[in-house]
Formats: sequence, structure tokens, C-alpha cells
Amino acid sequence: MNTSSRIQSVISPGRVNLLGEHVDYNDGPVLPAAIDLSMTLTFEPLDDDIVELNAIDFNQRSSFRIRDISHKVDVSGEPLPHFALYPASIAWALKQAGYTVPGLRAVYTSNIPIGAGLSSSAAVEVGFARAFMALGGWDIGPMALVKLTKKGENEYVGVHSGIMDQFACLFGVENHALYLDTRDLSWEALPLPSDVAIIVADSNISRELAGSAYNERQQACARAVEELREFLPGISSLRDVSVKDFMKYAERLPRRIQRRARHVVEEIARVEKAVELLKAGNIEGFGDLMIAGHASLRDLYEVSLPELDALVEIAMEQPGCYGARLTGAGFGGCTVNLVQEGKSAAFIMALKAGYERRTGRQAKIYPCRAAQGAHLVSEPILKL
Ligand code: GLA
Repeated sequence: MNTSSRIQSVISPGRVNLLGEHVDYNDGPVLPAAIDLSMTLTFEPLDDDIVELNAIDFNQRSSFRIRDISHKVDVSGEPLPHFALYPASIAWALKQAGYTVPGLRAVYTSNIPIGAGLSSSAAVEVGFARAFMALGGWDIGPMALVKLTKKGENEYVGVHSGIMDQFACLFGVENHALYLDTRDLSWEALPLPSDVAIIVADSNISRELAGSAYNERQQACARAVEELREFLPGISSLRDVSVKDFMKYAERLPRRIQRRARHVVEEIARVEKAVELLKAGNIEGFGDLMIAGHASLRDLYEVSLPELDALVEIAMEQPGCYGARLTGAGFGGCTVNLVQEGKSAAFIMALKAGYERRTGRQAKIYPCRAAQGAHLVSEPILKL
């Protein structure tokens, strides 16, 4: 191998979720899309068992040995800096799965805003998974790779997220939304209408996913299942509870648990309906479900913020906007908007101006396209 062919790159996208929020840890279906904001990683093999990282955006470097991976320390025995935990989590998960992880030198940068709910961390994880896999020459199926990256994030980084983000980053299909059943992991790519733009609006309030609020929501769902089992003995998650059955027993649940569970049960039904509408080309109906989904996240799941509500309300006043809602975990971050292509320039201007008027904050707006999932490029995009 000559030097240049030893150097490869990966492009690994972020994602939006169009519908199905906070259902992936309840075995429910989700409807994300990978987007054309992405992480770019260039790498080459190292003969040693060392991983050398150069994170351009943080202006930080770190190196660790694969044999020390479970101690979370760098080559000099110091704790790994936070940014390095994400690539390290992948080496750890691969090692746990029995692979002999190769050393590598990597440089990477991303234009996915960090902490904005667009899966900047999943993009890094999936990107490194692709890189290690290319060097290891292993044949790991894509869904197995998704599970592995999720395990790294859950157990090594310590963030108890569901499977949606890594799935979307890896399985993305250009101009398609992805339907994933998080219970049996069956999935389908659904074409998005070509004259509809995906516009992401960042509220500029960054959220802390590892924070207690996300875990509290997971616990509330588990509690709802426990309580409902008294009346519905066969259930193992909220996925098993129909809206009709839920309404029958809802009053038996403590108020807060009732609100949380109602969001999940109804959101699951919304996703199933949304898939039918998308297949029938009914984007207006799809947009209405997005709006209902946002109201539910605001009032029942209580993960919205006044700033996100403002973005959604302003969006819905604009001509050509089919639907708007917060995307990702909430507590800050972004909204996703589906807008008629010809109206998107005016939409962006009006949303920016309206948001600043109402909140005094600047929103960052990203017109996006649904993009291909993480893939290798056989050339050095960045300088190692
Ligand atoms: C975060 C998590 C996902 C999912 C969403 C909420 O993005 O990483 O697994 O739970 O929140 O839908």
C-alpha cells in the first residue's frame, strides 16, 4: 500500500427526527432522517495500539492505548478529555465484542452544531466505527454496528440514549426519511417530496442530554408500565399499550406519570399514521401530526422551552410551512420545519426576525436535505 492509499476519510451525518420523539426507549417507531450537516474524519493506520485524535473544532489532541481503554486514560495516565470519550467508546465496544482493534491516527471536524439535538455525538461515534471497521477489515452488519455504537454511548460515555441517533447516522438515505421500528429493528426508507425543504432552526440554547431530565422521563415510562401491568398483564413496554386501552386506565396513574405515558402512547400512534400520510404524499396531514407532536412534548412530556415554542409558533404563521416541532430530546436545541421549497427563503428571514423580536435571541437556521448515512471516501479530505 502506498502512503496516500493508507489514508481514508469518513463522512458521517447528523440527523433530525421528523416524528416519534421519546419513543425509542419505549420500543416505539421513529421517523428520523440523516441530514447534510456532517462530521468529516480522515484517518490512517498506526502500527502501535495507539489511537491519536486531533479534534480540530476543540483545538485539542489526545492519545490513548487500546489496551488501557477500559481505564479511560490517555497515554500519560491522565483521564481522557470529554471529547475523546466518544471515539474511545467505539474502540471499547469493539474490544468488548471480541475484535482486535487497530491503532489509528485521526483528524476530524464537524459542522453539526454541538449540544443542539442534531446528534453531533452519534456522528462522531458512527464515523469512528466506520474507520475502525475499514482498518480491521471486519464484516460487521450495519445494524450490529448501530447496536455496538449505542452500547459505547450508553455504557462507556454514560449517556442512556435510545437507538435512533446511531441508526439514522448510519442508515441515512438521500432525500428519504427513515422509518425504524425500535422493537424488531425492521426499517424502511420513505421518499420525501422533492419540493419540500427541511429547515432546522437552532434556538441557541444548548441542552445537556446526560442530564437528569432525560433519565427522569425514562423512569416515568418504566413506572407507567409497572402500574399499567396490573390492568394489562401482557405488556412489557408502552409500545404494547393502545391509545384505547391507555384511556381506559389512565386515571389510575399518578398525574405526572399519566402525562408522560400519554405522550408516548399517542406519539406512537402518530408515527404509524404519519407513515401512511407520507406514502400517500399528504404532506399537509403529516405536518399537522408534527404540530400535534410538538404540543404533546410541550404539555404532556414537558421537554419544550418557551424559546422552542416561539420558534414553532412563528413558523406556523408563515406561508408554505407544513409542520414544525422540536426535534431530539428537547430542553433546548432545535426545531425542524417542513416548508414548501419556493417559500423557504422568505420563511427563514421571517423566522429569524420573529424569534429575535420575541426572545431577544439569534436563531441559527440550517436549510438541510436528507442525506446518505456515514460512508467511506478513499481519499484524505483533511490533512493528517
Ligand atoms: C435523544 C436520544 C434518542 C431519543 C431522543 C428523543 O436524541 O439520543 O435516543 O431518545 O433523544 O426522541
